[in-house]
Amino acid sequence: MPPANSSLFRRKTIAAILQNPPPDAEGHGGSAGGLARHLTVRDLTGLGIAAIIGAGIFSTIGQASLNGGPAVSLLFVFTAIACAFSALCYAQFAATIPVSGSAYTYAYTSFGELAAWIIGWALIMEYAVGNIVVAISWSDYFTGLLDGIGLHIPRWLTMGTQSAHHGYETVLALMQAGKPLAEATPAQLEAYQAWANAPTLFGDWRFVVDLPAFGITVLITALVYVGIKESKNASNLLVLLKLIIVGVVIVVGAFYVKPENWTPFAPNGMGGVLKGVSAVFFAYIGFDAISTTAEECNNPQRDLPKAMMYALIICTVLYVIITLVLTGMVSYKELGVGDPLSFVFAKVGLPRLSGLVAVSAVFAMASVLLVFQLGQPRIWLTMSRDGLLPSVFARVHPKFHTPSFSTIVTGFFVAVPALFLNMDLVVDLTSIGTLFAFALVCGGILIIDPYGRSEARFRVPYINGQLLVPLLLAGSAFLLWRYDHATIIKLVEDTNGTTAARTGESWYSVFRHQIPYLVFVLASLAIAVVTFRKKLSLLPVLGLLTNLYLMTQLGINNWTMFLIWLLIGLSIYFGYGYKHSKLNKALVE
Ligand code: ALA
Repeated sequence: MPPANSSLFRRKTIAAILQNPPPDAEGHGGSAGGLARHLTVRDLTGLGIAAIIGAGIFSTIGQASLNGGPAVSLLFVFTAIACAFSALCYAQFAATIPVSGSAYTYAYTSFGELAAWIIGWALIMEYAVGNIVVAISWSDYFTGLLDGIGLHIPRWLTMGTQSAHHGYETVLALMQAGKPLAEATPAQLEAYQAWANAPTLFGDWRFVVDLPAFGITVLITALVYVGIKESKNASNLLVLLKLIIVGVVIVVGAFYVKPENWTPFAPNGMGGVLKGVSAVFFAYIGFDAISTTAEECNNPQRDLPKAMMYALIICTVLYVIITLVLTGMVSYKELGVGDPLSFVFAKVGLPRLSGLVAVSAVFAMASVLLVFQLGQPRIWLTMSRDGLLPSVFARVHPKFHTPSFSTIVTGFFVAVPALFLNMDLVVDLTSIGTLFAFALVCGGILIIDPYGRSEARFRVPYINGQLLVPLLLAGSAFLLWRYDHATIIKLVEDTNGTTAARTGESWYSVFRHQIPYLVFVLASLAIAVVTFRKKLSLLPVLGLLTNLYLMTQLGINNWTMFLIWLLIGLSIYFGYGYKHSKLNKALVE
């Protein structure tokens, strides 16, 4: 472990955080006005479910099912296992350091300041960028509902500029090639119309924006600004509604399942299933968000670990059943739509239920927005208290006891891009940033408590990984070779230049797509060796490996964008945080 005070690796000690707790609502225990403690284990589980069930299951699951077929339900199980390892690690951290800030704070105590900043920066991908996805998806369902009752908003006010332009170009290319318009999807045709009918500004610039996405973000931000108590009540109500509707979908849908739709189970093989990684992982994001409310829980050490696991278990069961019901009701080939849950009921002749599901999706996604709009400002508040962001980010509203400035900045950060951006891009960015954060949290537990000896009220159970990790890796490699050796053959051919010679492309343009996979192979070998030598705890190691593996599935272009994002973050750190850090000041003084 690096020394606690060597500049970039300077760490906050857990004892220092606990001895100097942040202030409560009345200003006790700290130096400034603090946050109000209202949340119980039930509220926290509710907040977890509120964050988890949303755009993922209501929207992005459609495309994942189209690519992977019914076998995508197995991807849900695999991803849930990866999330469970991370949840255990989150839970131990939350029990050890019950303050706001989530993975950021945890990294500060385990890896040091630089890594903490990086993780705080990556979490913007999860919270704020993730909320852009949810806002866009919310807008799709909302616009559909308004259409259903005969209220038509012009299309150029209901979708992002990027999506409209992309759809326009696709349809235009079809027309220029003399192909029938039936080859375009309904979404592409809508985008074409939006772009073609939009007013132009400043010469050629088409004014196409997603106004509902912007509007819902502003509304939710206002609610979060007014107070945690109000947010909690609204959230509990929305979660209840959401669970009832999900239950109805499962129970009613089960009667319409035709088991023959489950064959073939994996029509496009492993490759098809793994194309859904980003969408499926996105559906699970959120169980960790409740750790950001640690300063607002009645008993964070006892309640946060419990609530995280409860929320994850409940959602996993619901997801796997919903995926099976969905792919059992209609052929996977028909599921490539943005509103699959309501679509399947329209398809089996239940239009009323289809409408009801669409209404519930609007509520479900609003509750996801709420939790993430709540979480992001609290991370910034903690980073600001540490001096890594300007002090205005830690400002707490005197009346509402909420982080006022940070909440408003979050609102802008989500609402404005939601006007313009394309959903697929933001789903991938959210998933890669979050997987990275989860991997660091698992790694953090290996640093602060590699042998499960912590005194915290909750700790990840220790199982010696010395032999099990290498065995599990060898077993996975064997299964890969046995059932999907095409992946390994491609890896070898792309690396040794065979593919490039065949296709006439340059060696690098072929090889670059294998970089994530090769990084994973090397990293997992290194992790296996260290685990063998140091007898590390099995579960955090598996968390680390599974998160890294899921990251490899997101492709080099997303890795590149994520690296650029990290570089921007590093410039800000070296330009501001490094100098203004409270730990730096403590060392200088
Ligand atoms: N898991 C959340 C959703 O699916 C982010 O909307």
